[in-house]
Amino acid sequence: MLFKQQALLRQKLFVLGSLAIGSLLYLVARVGSLDRLQPLCPIDGRFGPRGQEEIPLRALQFKRGLLHEFRKGNATKEQIRLHNLVQQLPKAIIIGVRKGGTRALLEMLNLHPAVVKASQEIHFFDNDENYAKGIEWYRKKMPFSYPHQITIEKSPAYFITEEVPERIYKMNSSIKLLIIVREPTTRAISDYTQVLEGKERKNKTYYKFEKLAIDPNTCEVNTKYKAVRTSIYTKHLERWLKYFPVEQFHIVDGDRLITEPLPELQLVEKFLNLPPRISQYNLYFNATRGFYCLRFNIVFNKCLAGSKGRIHPEVDTSVITKLRKFFHPFNQKFYQITGRTFNWP
Ligand code: A3P
Repeated sequence: MLFKQQALLRQKLFVLGSLAIGSLLYLVARVGSLDRLQPLCPIDGRFGPRGQEEIPLRALQFKRGLLHEFRKGNATKEQIRLHNLVQQLPKAIIIGVRKGGTRALLEMLNLHPAVVKASQEIHFFDNDENYAKGIEWYRKKMPFSYPHQITIEKSPAYFITEEVPERIYKMNSSIKLLIIVREPTTRAISDYTQVLEGKERKNKTYYKFEKLAIDPNTCEVNTKYKAVRTSIYTKHLERWLKYFPVEQFHIVDGDRLITEPLPELQLVEKFLNLPPRISQYNLYFNATRGFYCLRFNIVFNKCLAGSKGRIHPEVDTSVITKLRKFFHPFNQKFYQITGRTFNWP
C-alpha cells in the first residue's frame, strides 16, 4: 500500500516537473531568447568585410543597451575603445517619401540586431549649410555601432531635393537607397494634414486641401502645390537614376507596411543582405493606436508617436477622382521603371 502511494506520488511529481520545464521552455522561446542565442549570420560581403568575429544575438541585445548609453553621451572614451565602437557613415538611406511611412520603416528596421538607426533626420545632403560642414560632420552625427553593423538614416527631403543624388553619389556610389511610397493621393492628403496641424498649433488659418490641390482658374490639378509634386514619384526618381542604377533602389509599399509590416520588412532584409531576424514576435497590433507597434523583448515595446497616424480631413470625392486620374500615367511609369506594381487607382 505504502509502495503504491509512493509510486503515485513519484508519478505526480514527474508530471508536475515536466509541466514546469515545458512552461519554462515555452516562456524562453516566447521572449525570443532561444533565437537570440544563435549566432548572427555574417552579413554579405557588400556590407563590411567578411570573416569578422560573429557576435551572438543575445550579446548584441545586451550591447544595444550599452550603445544606448553611449548615444546619450554617458560613455567614456575608454569604454568606446574597449568595445570597438565606431561612428559609421550610413550603408543605406531612406531617402523618402515624406509621409510614406519613413519613420515606421526606420524604427522597424532598427529591430534588426545588425541595424543601428540615426534617430534624428540629419538633413546633410539637402541643406547647403549642413553640407558645407563636410562629411566628417555628417559621420559625427551617426550613432555608435559595432563595425559589422550597418547604420541607416532617413531624411525624406532627400528624395525631392535637386542636389541630393549627386552629393550622395560622391559620398558612396554603391550605397543602398530605400524609398517608401503610398498611394499618391493619400500621401498628398497626409502631407497636407501635417502642414494643417502645424498651422493650427500656431492658431493660424489655412486653406482647404481642395483649394490648394486644384487651380481655381483652370480647374485642373495644381502642379505648383508641393504636396502634389512630391507624389509624382517618377519625376523625382528619374533624377536619381542619372546617378544610380535602378538595382540600387528598393521600393517599400507604405500602405502594406501599415496593414502587414512583416513581409515588407523581410523584403528589405533581403535587399540589404541581412539575415532574416525580424519576426512576427517583434510586431504587434495595437487596437487603440490602430497601428502595429514594436516589441524589442518581453519588457521593452513601443508605438510610434501620436503625430504618426493622424486623422485626415474629409476631401471632396470629385477632387480625389481628379487627382487619381492625374497621377495615373505617372504611376504607370513608376511601376515600369521600378518593376514594382501597386494597385493604385
Ligand atoms: P498618416 O499620419 O497620414 O496616417 P512619415 O513617417 O514618413 O511621416 O509617415 C507617416 C505615416 O506613417 C503615417 O501617415 C502613418 O499612416 C504611417 N505609418 C506606417 N506604419 C505606421 C505605424 N506602425 N505607426 C504609425 N504610423 C505608421
